Amino acid sequence: MKTLIEPFKIKMVEAVRQTTEKERGKILKDVHYNIFMVEAEHILIDFLTDSGTGAMSDRQWGAVMIGDESYAGSRSFFKFEKAVRDIMGFKHIIPTHQGRAAERILFSMLAKKGQAIPNNTHFDTTRANVEYNEAEALDFVIPEGQIPEKIHPFKGNMDLAKLAEFLKKNHQKVPIGMTTITNNSGGGQPVSMENIRQTAKLYKKYNIPFFIDACRFAENAYFIKLREKGYGDKSIPEIALEMFSHADGCTMSAKKDGLVNMGGFIALNDDRLAMQARNLLILTEGFPSYGGLSGRDLEALAVGLREVLGEDYLKYRLRTAEYMGEKLIEAGVSIIRPTGGHAVYIDAKHFYPHIPSSQYPGQTLVCELYKKGGIRAVEIGSVMFARKQKGSKQEKPAVMELVRLAFPRRVYTQSHFDYAIEVIIETFKQRKKARGFEIVWEPPFLRHFTAHFKPVSG
Ligand code: F0G
Repeated sequence: MKTLIEPFKIKMVEAVRQTTEKERGKILKDVHYNIFMVEAEHILIDFLTDSGTGAMSDRQWGAVMIGDESYAGSRSFFKFEKAVRDIMGFKHIIPTHQGRAAERILFSMLAKKGQAIPNNTHFDTTRANVEYNEAEALDFVIPEGQIPEKIHPFKGNMDLAKLAEFLKKNHQKVPIGMTTITNNSGGGQPVSMENIRQTAKLYKKYNIPFFIDACRFAENAYFIKLREKGYGDKSIPEIALEMFSHADGCTMSAKKDGLVNMGGFIALNDDRLAMQARNLLILTEGFPSYGGLSGRDLEALAVGLREVLGEDYLKYRLRTAEYMGEKLIEAGVSIIRPTGGHAVYIDAKHFYPHIPSSQYPGQTLVCELYKKGGIRAVEIGSVMFARKQKGSKQEKPAVMELVRLAFPRRVYTQSHFDYAIEVIIETFKQRKKARGFEIVWEPPFLRHFTAHFKPVSG
C-alpha cells in the first residue's frame, strides 16, 4: 500500500481550541507579537518544539503506575539503567532532569578558560554551557550543511579535514570533542556512521574523549539505515549500538528520542569522570539513582527508549517531515533540503524577499502563520542570532533567516499536517502584503524569548 498510516491508535484525546483570525490578531498584539508569550490554550497546532511535547504510549503510562519512589537504589532506576546500557553500551549511566543539566555537569568538569570544544554544530544550550565555563564552542559542520537547498544525505557530518587541521595545531587545548546527532541547529540533519567513526579516530589519536549529543539518536540511526551503504539490513538497535561504540560517552535530552516529557542523562565509560559527575549531580540534581527525576519518570523513560527504536515508528516519523517538505516545495516554498528528522525549516528570506533581515522576515512568518491558522513555529534567524555591532546601532544579521516547525512525537495526525500545509501555502500566496517588524524592547540576552515587537509602518 502507498498510504503510510500513523503506527498507533488513539486511546486518550486532548481537545484543541479553535480561535478566529480576528481573535488571534488581537492576541498577537497583546503579547507584542512575541509567539513565546501566547498562552498554549490559544494555539491550535503547536510546532514550537519537539522537546518534551510527545505523547506517551499506554505501556509508558502503565509503567508510570509502578514507579518506585525510593530515594536511593530505586527499582525504576535499575530498569532505566539497563535500558540505556542495552541500547548505548556505556558503563556509567547518570540520570539528570533534562539535557542541559547533563551538559552543565559535563562541561563544568571538562571546559576551562582558554580551551576549545569542537562539535558539528553546538545546540544553543550546549554552546551556552561551554561558554559559561569560558571555553570556546567551535562548529565544524561540512559546508553543505550550511546551504539550505543543497542536497546531501548526511548534512550533519563533521568537516573531518577542518577538524584534523584544528586538532593538529590545537589538540592540547581540546578537553573533549562532540558530535550532535541529528544536527538540530543545522536542520535536524543526520551524521553518517562513517563520519562518526572517523571523528572518533581523530580524537583517539590525541587521547581526547569523544562524546555524542544523543537527543535524536534513533532518528539518526534510521537515516543511516536508509542512506548509508552496508546498513540497509541492520536493525536499529544494532546501528545505535555501533554509533555509540565509537564514543566515550554521551549527553541526552530524553525529551526527544526518550519519548518522555521530562528527563535526560549522561552516559560514559570513564570511572573517574563518572565519580566526579555523580558528585556534581548530588549538588544540584539529586542522588545518583534519581538525578532530579521521579521513579515514575525513569520507568516511562526505560520504556520510551525501547519504543523509539521501532522501525514502524521511525518510518512514520521521518516520513512526516518529508511529506510536509514535498508539499511545500511543490508550492514553491523554499525549505532546508532534504528534510531532517524532527522538523521542517522554511527559508524566510526566500518567502519574503521584500523584507530585509533588519526587519526580521522570520518573525513576520511566525506571526502570519499564527494569525492565519493558529500554528506556532519558531524563528531561527536574526531575532535569535543577530549581533549588535560595536559602536553602531546596526546589527550583523544571522547567516540564515529560518522558521522551524518542529513536530511533537505521536501527537498530530496527517490531517493536522495537511491543515498546516494549507495554512503555509495560503500565507505564501499572500506574501506580498506582509510587513516586517522592529524590536521596541529587548532584554540583555536571549532576547527572542521576551522581546517586544511592532510591525514596521508603511
Ligand atoms: N542538544 C540538542 C541537540 C537539543 O536539541 C537540545 C534541546 C538540547 C541539547 C538541550 O536539551 O532541552 O532537555 O535541556 N532542544 C530543544 C529544541 C529545546 O527545541 O530544539 P534540554
